Amino acid sequence: MGFVAKDLIAIEPLEAADIIAILDTAEGFLDVSRRDVKKVPALRGKTVVNLFFEPSTRTRVSFEIAEKRLSADTINFSSTGSSTSKGETLLDTVKNIEAMAPDILVIRHPAAGAAQFVADRTSAAVINAGDGRHEHPTQALLDLMTIRQKKGGFDGLKVTIVGDIANSRVARSNIFGLNKLGAKVTLCGPGTMLPNKHEALGVEVTSRLEAALEGADVVMALRIQKERQSTPTFPSDREYAKYFGLNSQVIDLCEPDVIIMHPGPVNRGVEISSNLLDGSRSVVLGQVENGVAVRMAVVYLLAGGVAQ
Ligand code: CP
Repeated sequence: MGFVAKDLIAIEPLEAADIIAILDTAEGFLDVSRRDVKKVPALRGKTVVNLFFEPSTRTRVSFEIAEKRLSADTINFSSTGSSTSKGETLLDTVKNIEAMAPDILVIRHPAAGAAQFVADRTSAAVINAGDGRHEHPTQALLDLMTIRQKKGGFDGLKVTIVGDIANSRVARSNIFGLNKLGAKVTLCGPGTMLPNKHEALGVEVTSRLEAALEGADVVMALRIQKERQSTPTFPSDREYAKYFGLNSQVIDLCEPDVIIMHPGPVNRGVEISSNLLDGSRSVVLGQVENGVAVRMAVVYLLAGGVAQ
């Protein structure tokens, strides 16, 4: 059985087998991006609209590249310069775009729940490209793909996520995915950046960076999401870097073959040092490469493609 669904809104409701089916399909698409002619006809005649109500570099570009590599017709909508600035509601925007018969809508929005709201009101397939603090499922899938490539699997892996967990949709999606696949997740950050109900998430939580890093197989650094904080959660970036920043010294507490991940965008010298980010243990650009393959897989599967 492959992954069969109308939409991809979140990792939380997926079964482990769904995740594996998407990752296996994505592995099959990696090769397309490495060819001279980077195109397959799988989605010829399909229309995908990318609706971005929040800034994005990696997600937006990689969805567009993924769609083009599948031969879909792609249209990019940005709330900046659209009729959103004239007061049009999200639902009116979606209904007007739906009248132009798209097959798939990719949506990023600052409000948690926006992707589900749209999915419930359109016959088009909807892919959540990040909704507020809720989830960023394709980011987690590309992270899981990268971990599986580097570590061969997930069973018993210690994965430590360091940073602004409470505001991070990337952390939430990864926690759900990693738990389902058998990894042990440790969250680390100042108390003000940690989730309240972490027991329900089935993870370890600590504000001691050394304890969080000890024996870690995978470390994921997260940016401080100042755009989602009503008041500052730490005195200064300099102090954050001193107590929670990843650098070449603290990383030696991890397993020798640890991999360093970051979803981007990175604030160099705050959550991670440049040495570490650009060093041999960093898999950050591999994550970005896998992002295209994962998004090709998700678009393909929601368009009715068969999982590999
Ligand atoms: N990781 C991620 O979502 O990056 P962008 O905000 O640049 O899309």
